[in-house]
Amino acid sequence: MTLPDFSPDAFARTLARVQELAVDYLRRLPEREAFRRPPDDVVRRFEAAPLPKEGEPADRILADIERDVLPYSLGIGHPRWWGYVRASPSPFGMATDLLATTMNNNCSGSAQIATYLEMTVVRWLAELVGYPPDAGGILLSGGSAANFVALAAMREAKLPGTRQHGLRHLDRPPVVYVTYETHSCIRRAVDLLGFGNDALRLLPTDDRLRMDPAALAAAVREDRATGRLPLCVVATAGTVNLGAVDRLTELREVARAEDLWFHIDGAYGGVLAALPELADRYAGLADADSLAINPHKWLYVPYEAGLVLVRDRNALTRAFATKADYLEVEEEDYFSGPLWFYQQGPQLSRAFRALKIWAVMRQIGLGGYRTLWRQDLATAAELRRLVAEHPRLELVGPSDLSIVCFRYVPAREDAQRLNRRLVDRIQKDGRLFVSGTTVNGTACLRAAILNFRTTAADAKLAVDAVAELGAGLEAATG
Ligand SMILES: Cc1ncc(COP(=O)(O)O)c(C=O)c1O
Repeated sequence: MTLPDFSPDAFARTLARVQELAVDYLRRLPEREAFRRPPDDVVRRFEAAPLPKEGEPADRILADIERDVLPYSLGIGHPRWWGYVRASPSPFGMATDLLATTMNNNCSGSAQIATYLEMTVVRWLAELVGYPPDAGGILLSGGSAANFVALAAMREAKLPGTRQHGLRHLDRPPVVYVTYETHSCIRRAVDLLGFGNDALRLLPTDDRLRMDPAALAAAVREDRATGRLPLCVVATAGTVNLGAVDRLTELREVARAEDLWFHIDGAYGGVLAALPELADRYAGLADADSLAINPHKWLYVPYEAGLVLVRDRNALTRAFATKADYLEVEEEDYFSGPLWFYQQGPQLSRAFRALKIWAVMRQIGLGGYRTLWRQDLATAAELRRLVAEHPRLELVGPSDLSIVCFRYVPAREDAQRLNRRLVDRIQKDGRLFVSGTTVNGTACLRAAILNFRTTAADAKLAVDAVAELGAGLEAATG
C-alpha cells in the first residue's frame, strides 16, 4: 500500500493542475447554463461510490472532479445568476482562501496572526457601516449564524442568568417583534434559543412592506398590558423578498422608549449603508444593539463569511464564554493574545475566514465597492424599466435595493400557476437563473443582482428570454 505524497513538490504539481481547472472554470462560466443539474449517470456514480479502501493518485481524482463536479456547479458568478441572494465571488478571494486553507489556522483566538486579521476585519466592517469602531464582533458562517449569535447575545442581555437557569423561570411569556418579511432564519434562531415560535409577534407592514413603527409601539403596550414580556425588535436592512429597508430611525425610537433590544438583520443590504446617497435610508443602523452583515453576499467574498456586530462587546462573552481546563492560558503566556474568539461565539475550531475578507476588501476598496454597488442598483433599475415596458411582463412590489420581483401576465391562463411553472422553466432553460417567491399573495419571479459580471445587456437578454418562455408555456397549455 502506498501512502499519498504529502510533500511540497507534490502540492506544487497539484496546484498547477488545480489552477488550470479553476481558471478554465471561470473562463467558461459566462458561456454555460446559469445552472446545470448533474445528469442521472453522474449522480449514480456518486451514489454507488464505495468507501475508498486504497489511496488513489491525485491526477485521477482531479480528472473525476473535472468530469463530474466542475461542470455542475450551481453557477453562482454567471452574469445572469440572480437567484436568492447569492453574490459573485471575487477570484482574488478564492485564491487567498487557498492560502488560508494552506495555513489551516484554527482561529479560536490566541496571539496568532489570524486573530489580528479578524479584529482588523471586524473593525473595518464596523466602520464601513458607521457602527462604533470599538464594537464587538465575530466572523461566522453566514447570515443565519450571525442572526442566531445576535439573538443569543440579546437573550443573555435581556434575561441575565438564562444560560444557567434556562427559560423555565420566566413568569411572563417573552415577545420578539418581526414581520412576515423577516428572514426565516430569525424564526429558527428564536426556536433554537428556547423561546419557541409562539414568542414571535408578526407586525403589519406599510405599503413598501416595511415594519410599521406605530404598530410596534402599539403592540408593545398591548403585550405589557396583557402580561407578556417584550424583549426585542428585529428590523431588516434589505429584506430577502423585496429588498425593503425598514424605517430604522423610527424603529430605534420605539425600541429606546420601550427598552427593547434593537437588532438589525443586514445580511443582504447592511453594507449599502456605506453609500452616501442612501445615508437617509440607513440612518439608525449605527444605533442597533446588534447587527448581522454578510461578507459572502454584497462584499463579493467567497463562502462562508458572515459577521455579527454588537455595541456592547461584552454581550458576546456573556452569551458564550465557557470554561475548559485544557483551554486555559495565563495572560502573560507567550500564546496569549488580545481576544479569544471561541469565548464570543458557538465554535471552538474556526476557519481562517478573515484572510479572504481582508484581501478582498483591500482589493476592491471602499471606492470600488461603491462603484460596484451602484452598478448592481443601476442594472436592477434597468431590469425594472424593461419589465415595466414589456406588454406581457409586470413588476410585483417595490424594491429599495437590487431585487426585482416580476411576473409574466398571460392572456388566458391562471397567472399564479403559470408563474410558478415559469420559474422551473427558466431554471431548466439555463439562460438565466431566478428564484420564485410570493409578494402579497402574488406568485412571481425574483431576481437579486449582486453581480459584478452583470451588464444592461444581460437585463435585456433576460427579459427577452422570460417573455419567450412565458409565451411558450402559455401556448403549450392554451
Ligand atoms: C435578509 C437575510 N437575512 C438572513 C439571510 C441568511 O443568510 P445566510 O444564507 O448567509 O445564512 C439572508 C440570506 O439570503 C438574507 O437575505
